Amino acid sequence: MINGENRITRPLRWGMVGGGRTGQVGYKHRTGALRDKTYDLVAGAFDINAERGKDFGVNLGVDSDRCYPDYQTMFAEESNLDDGIEVVSIATPNGTHYEITMAALNAGLHVICEKPLVFTTKEAVEIKQLAEEKGLIVGVTYGFSGNVMLLQMRAMIEQGKIGDIHLVDLQYTHGYAATVDGDKKNAAQKWRVDPKIAGPSFVLGDLSTHTYYMSQLIMPEMKIKKLLCDRQSFVGSRYPLEDNAYVLMHYENGAVGRMWTSAVDAGCMDGQRIRIVGSKASLEWWDSKPNELRYEVQGEPIQTLVRGTEYLDELTSEYERLGTLHQEGLSDAWANIYLRIAVAIDAKNRGDEATLDKLIYPDIDAGIAGVQWIENCVRSADNGSVWVEYETEESVHA
Ligand code: NAI
Repeated sequence: MINGENRITRPLRWGMVGGGRTGQVGYKHRTGALRDKTYDLVAGAFDINAERGKDFGVNLGVDSDRCYPDYQTMFAEESNLDDGIEVVSIATPNGTHYEITMAALNAGLHVICEKPLVFTTKEAVEIKQLAEEKGLIVGVTYGFSGNVMLLQMRAMIEQGKIGDIHLVDLQYTHGYAATVDGDKKNAAQKWRVDPKIAGPSFVLGDLSTHTYYMSQLIMPEMKIKKLLCDRQSFVGSRYPLEDNAYVLMHYENGAVGRMWTSAVDAGCMDGQRIRIVGSKASLEWWDSKPNELRYEVQGEPIQTLVRGTEYLDELTSEYERLGTLHQEGLSDAWANIYLRIAVAIDAKNRGDEATLDKLIYPDIDAGIAGVQWIENCVRSADNGSVWVEYETEESVHA
């Protein structure tokens, strides 16, 4: 159980790029990172607008000399300090992730980057190679994946509690972009439908990479063999990017699956769901009820497993924070992700490969896998929504 005791030797000196006053996701990073005394926010290039970024950083309590006009200046100046930053989070629009991550690694910094990590597998692999060369960690903020009940799903599947996996039903939808209005008025929505900044997809990258990663977290042995993706833009000006997509999957073990991802699911307030159907039972988890897990055994009454209870697998107890009866949510999930990445960085700094080997967290391979998921979906959709063999770095070079 997490009780506030230190999990690493000392807090890591932490900086942020982006996540400024007007940024959507910045606060999630800070609420996650600052929870467990594992990071001290000591520097930032928080905003594309340098003046606003400085004002914001000072307001957060960062020394004004360490609120920088841009990330290049931050990396250069901080490297001259004895107590300069050692890890940086990148919470900027997608199209900037590659250059900022590479610059950070070259400056000797561990990196915590937003999803989707980059636009292409080639770029993602370059990042992995540079991180390995430098002995640095790259974590990816699939924030929802810190929800404890996902570890319960992983444990139950591993223990055969649902039998052989037959069906994988994934969904991440909402209706916030059901009309074109936000594309014009909301800066964060505007770049999401611009391929130069968003990359080769809108909802496939923005939404479904989360759910795809969680499916891999829950079922690490399940590999996609082929998929078919049908993507469309109901708001025509978003073309060639999609605001809706359906993906059918065939897995190597014979299981089949589907992913529905959409930003035009008008009225939807409850749109992220994972249902895994096995030969004898099913598990179902909703992001809107993260403390509960439905366990449905064929022929028996449906059970709702509740977070924090003693009947859960011990895998969950390591990240339990509040105990039974008390609800946890997204900020706890983010704190769990930031904590695990801190443990990874601390272990890497100490050369403790044993800790790294058993730690479950969204690492560089999870970042690469998200990029590959998008690439395979787009390749299928843009060839007329045909079945394509699922390509990964290994399969291409096999
Ligand atoms: P946003 O447009 O709301 O905010 C971007 C922030 O970055 C702003 O503060 C902006 O001033 C700053 N910025 C832009 N370029 C910069 C640069 N070169 N240097 C310094 N600051 C810069 O975008 P939003 O929605 O916060 O998304 C940012 C990233 O986070 C995206 O990659 C997105 O996919 C991801 N995201 C992830 C979520 C998650 O749950 N993990 C949730 C929302 C977004």
